[in-house]
Amino acid sequence: MQPSWTGGDLRFSYCTEHDLPDIARMLAKESVCRWLCFGPNTDEATRSYFLPLIEEMQTAFQEGREPDHHVFTVRLEDTGDFVGQCALFPVDFSPGSFLIGYQLDDTYWKQGYGTLACTFLVYFAFIVLDGYRLNGDTVAGNTASRRVMERCGFVLEGIQRQYWCAGGEYHDRLIFGLLKSDLAPERLSELGETFTAA
Ligand SMILES: CC(C)(COP(=O)(O)OP(=O)(O)OC[C@H]1O[C@@H](n2cnc3c(N)ncnc32)[C@H](O)[C@@H]1OP(=O)(O)O)[C@@H](O)C(=O)NCCC(=O)NCCS
Repeated sequence: MQPSWTGGDLRFSYCTEHDLPDIARMLAKESVCRWLCFGPNTDEATRSYFLPLIEEMQTAFQEGREPDHHVFTVRLEDTGDFVGQCALFPVDFSPGSFLIGYQLDDTYWKQGYGTLACTFLVYFAFIVLDGYRLNGDTVAGNTASRRVMERCGFVLEGIQRQYWCAGGEYHDRLIFGLLKSDLAPERLSELGETFTAA
């Protein structure tokens, strides 16, 4: 079984090929992709994006080293039902700095799971990987994503005006950052207590 962690009523497991049908179903939805700069995706587009990441992670595990990418599938712990996915991507030439990403299926929105998934990424980056910085960005209109980052302590560091062009419209890009040193030692201990390696 792939490495996984639990927290709240969610399980976060390194993504495998078995998760791709659920991820593809989610990323085929207009609702989920509304504020993303890709999608809605075909099954094939989702597979060709995720498969190289899955292969990289599996090769790393076989070789006994840490993968470059950390892509997690999020499921309800008790039923195994698919909730979404979240990920940490490395920032080039900056060991310990990661870009965050999360997408949840629309049936699970507004129940605190987005905040829990982002909190998991903070825990994983700063405690499991001992990173020092997290980077996030979102389209200015994506209030839910902005709130998720704010609730997790991210700070708005900049706005790039009309950065993305999607659906015939220009969208500002909000850039967020979080340093491990922004978090009080008590908050780091709290994170360590929220999630458990399964
Ligand atoms: C962004 C996303 C992960 C948020 O997940 P979620 O589980 O709904 O988030 P939470 O329940 O933890 O809510 C976090 C905050 O967002 C707010 N929120 C959630 N959905 C919202 C919406 N559609 N419009 C406005 N605010 C919303 C909540 O009210 C809460 O704010 P509060 O702290 O002021 O009460 C989810 O909407 C999603 O997957 N969207 C599609 C993919 C996406 O946009 N990913 C991010 C790319 S940058």
